[in-house]
Amino acid sequence: MNVLLIGSGGREHGLAWKLAQSPLLTKLYAAPGNPGIGEEAELVALNVTHHPGVIDFCRAAGIALVVVGPEAPLVAGLADDLRAAGIRVFGPDKAPAQLEGSKAFTKALCDRAGISTAGYRTAHSLDEARAALAAFGAPVVVKADGLAAGKGVTVAMTMAEAEAAIDALFAEPGASAVIEEFLDGEEVSLFVLTDGKAMVPFGSAQDHKRVGDGDTGPNTGGMGAHSPARVLTPELEARALREIVAPTIATLAAEGMPYSGVLYAGLMLTGQGPRLIEYNARFGDPECQVLMMRLESDLLALLLPIAEGRLSDAPAPVFSDDVALTVVMAANGYPGTPETGGAIGGIDAAEAGGAKVFQAGTKSVDGRLIASGGRVLAVTATGATVRAAQAAAYRAVDAIDFPTGFCRRDIGAREIARESD
Ligand code: AMP
Ligand code: GLY
Repeated sequence: MNVLLIGSGGREHGLAWKLAQSPLLTKLYAAPGNPGIGEEAELVALNVTHHPGVIDFCRAAGIALVVVGPEAPLVAGLADDLRAAGIRVFGPDKAPAQLEGSKAFTKALCDRAGISTAGYRTAHSLDEARAALAAFGAPVVVKADGLAAGKGVTVAMTMAEAEAAIDALFAEPGASAVIEEFLDGEEVSLFVLTDGKAMVPFGSAQDHKRVGDGDTGPNTGGMGAHSPARVLTPELEARALREIVAPTIATLAAEGMPYSGVLYAGLMLTGQGPRLIEYNARFGDPECQVLMMRLESDLLALLLPIAEGRLSDAPAPVFSDDVALTVVMAANGYPGTPETGGAIGGIDAAEAGGAKVFQAGTKSVDGRLIASGGRVLAVTATGATVRAAQAAAYRAVDAIDFPTGFCRRDIGAREIARESD
């Protein structure tokens, strides 16, 4: 069958690489894609925000399934419009995608479904935000309401930081904020496939959100990850599924907005058990890359039944027991303004030892690969232990020639310290 993949990041390169291995696949298209994805798929220059154009393409190319990678098209209702046109799609409709698009929506849903999340207040003005800060005290978390790619969040350890964050946020006209209780613990990502009725856990990972070694500096989209997240023990995972994910899926279905796709739960493992930090309506980036490296099952054979609303007929996903670890190489300046145009070399050398280099912000100009975004590469390797996977990933990183880029040197360090205990 023919498949269209929407997106252009490292996550989509991971999905493309895995979809291309499917015996069910005839031809993979990607829009807009990137040079790495172009090795697995035919790139099509579709305007993804123009839904009738996407539908026309699907009809002309005989697309049996559209896989939507990023959140923006989901929040914009691309999946609704494809479904209305009779085209199968992996990814939730606009209404349930608000789990990612609107923090206020998620908080209200948690209230209705009795899900444990951080206490919060929504503020529509600077005065309301000041009152909420006074009520919580520091540490406290200030979030912009709406899509902000993890960058609209300030975890403020002091009141001064929190006040600076609300001042900046309400400098934008029409802003609204969610002020939240600070959750103390270790953060993990849990992925669940669902067609709105059945649900299947789809692996766990730990991201490294801060830009600098030792978890310092500003938040980013993610500088590296490893999978599985061993701190999420089978008992804690079962509890998170039972207390957080299952009631979310059931409540959305009961309220007439069934969620179909992958649900990504960002969890804090606190002294009182797992608590929800946030939901995303898509795979994580770079968490997807480590999941795809470990996935032994045919990805297409899993995604298609979800799009058809018959997940309960699908085979259970099988993951390797190996650990996968990915190191993001970003362009200097990220997460501020990244330096674009820098040359990238050495990918073949990096992959010679068995690593896989997923491309994100890359562009091909006159046959040369250059950096075109903030996060540029996700250099991914596997091993029997986190230590082995980390060593293999950094050997691959060191084979890459990307003078205008940087990476963290401590991805997986916390897990390695635990392995050595
Ligand atoms: P979000 O965009 O909601 O995922 O927030 C980005 C990051 O901020 C999360 O991945 C956490 O590391 C951190 N964070 C968000 N909310 C909280 C909270 N209530 N307590 C502690 N850390 C948080
Ligand atoms: N790596 C975090 C995210 O994809 O949201």
